[in-house]
Amino acid sequence: MAVYECNNTFRDFLRELPKCEHHLHLEGTLEPDLLYPLARRNNVKLPEQFPKTVEELENRYKQFKDLQDFLDFYYIGCEVLLQEEDFFDLAWAYFKRSRSQGLKHAEVFFDPQSHTSRGISIETVVKGFQRACIKAQQELQISSKLIMCLLRHLPVEDCKATLESARVLFETQQLHGLGLDSAEKPFPPELFTECYETARSYHPDIKLTAHAGEEGDASYVLKSLDLLKTSRIDHGVRSAEDPELMARLAREQIMCTICPLSSVKLQVVQDVRELPFAQFLDAGIPFSINSDDPAYFGGYILDNYVAVQTRFNWTLNVWKKVVQQSVNGSWCEEKRKKELL
Ligand code: ADE
Ligand code: ZN
Repeated sequence: MAVYECNNTFRDFLRELPKCEHHLHLEGTLEPDLLYPLARRNNVKLPEQFPKTVEELENRYKQFKDLQDFLDFYYIGCEVLLQEEDFFDLAWAYFKRSRSQGLKHAEVFFDPQSHTSRGISIETVVKGFQRACIKAQQELQISSKLIMCLLRHLPVEDCKATLESARVLFETQQLHGLGLDSAEKPFPPELFTECYETARSYHPDIKLTAHAGEEGDASYVLKSLDLLKTSRIDHGVRSAEDPELMARLAREQIMCTICPLSSVKLQVVQDVRELPFAQFLDAGIPFSINSDDPAYFGGYILDNYVAVQTRFNWTLNVWKKVVQQSVNGSWCEEKRKKELL
């Protein structure tokens, strides 16, 4: 297993940077030491084959074969979340932990379908998360936005119904944006063109993003831009395989939300040094550094910044630029951006 550690002085420097997270699945922050207590609290019986202890589970998380291998665990984890309080506890634990790593602003994903399919209302999920967001603002000075994701492995009709159930939440901007996640390759962007059209009709300021170019190739990124009309791409690392696409990402200043430790754990690359940071910097494509599913991939936001530094050894000036583009590419108010910089 690769080690990603830098000296304390640099870690302290990276901690102090005003970090924004744009790619974080709240369900992916479910640490093993919260999963088992929640299963007990809610009388949820985990599958027979599921690891029985925190230690066993942590061991299993050390490496995933691929995205699907991880998702199989991720969706079992979701099953212990039932009550509003569970969603609150989950998100609050994430905010507290990330505050100690210097997080200032978070745009966080959640997957309503992984809960509504078990009979939980979307309102229960959103209320729990919203309470944690408010508390994070008040007590930790972390600002946040909620982004609802559609699960691309589920039937499109199910996604449409989920969108409809969230319509008022989008209209009132309690939900700020729409994303698309889960197994990428068998479920290309074109399946969701209509869903994104519908979402755009809900509010003129709705923000759109989609996972693309993680396990799917560069054409998934291109189709997300052209058909879903996203202004951001989650991961997007395989864009580097297509020079024309790279030029377009730079021209249109499309932010790619890169997740270094995730890409290693899911075997998208074998080491952080293989990620196309240098190509993105050279081309002028904005990107941010994110933790994706930190409970599963072994690191929160600062750990991801550190992993990049161990491999790329950036100067202070490069970090300044990376942080600036991360703040500028955030979906928060201009006033908040000024405070952050
Ligand atoms: N759901 C949670 N994390 C994900 C990822 N990295 N890719 C796709 N779907 C996800
Ligand atoms: Zn993700």
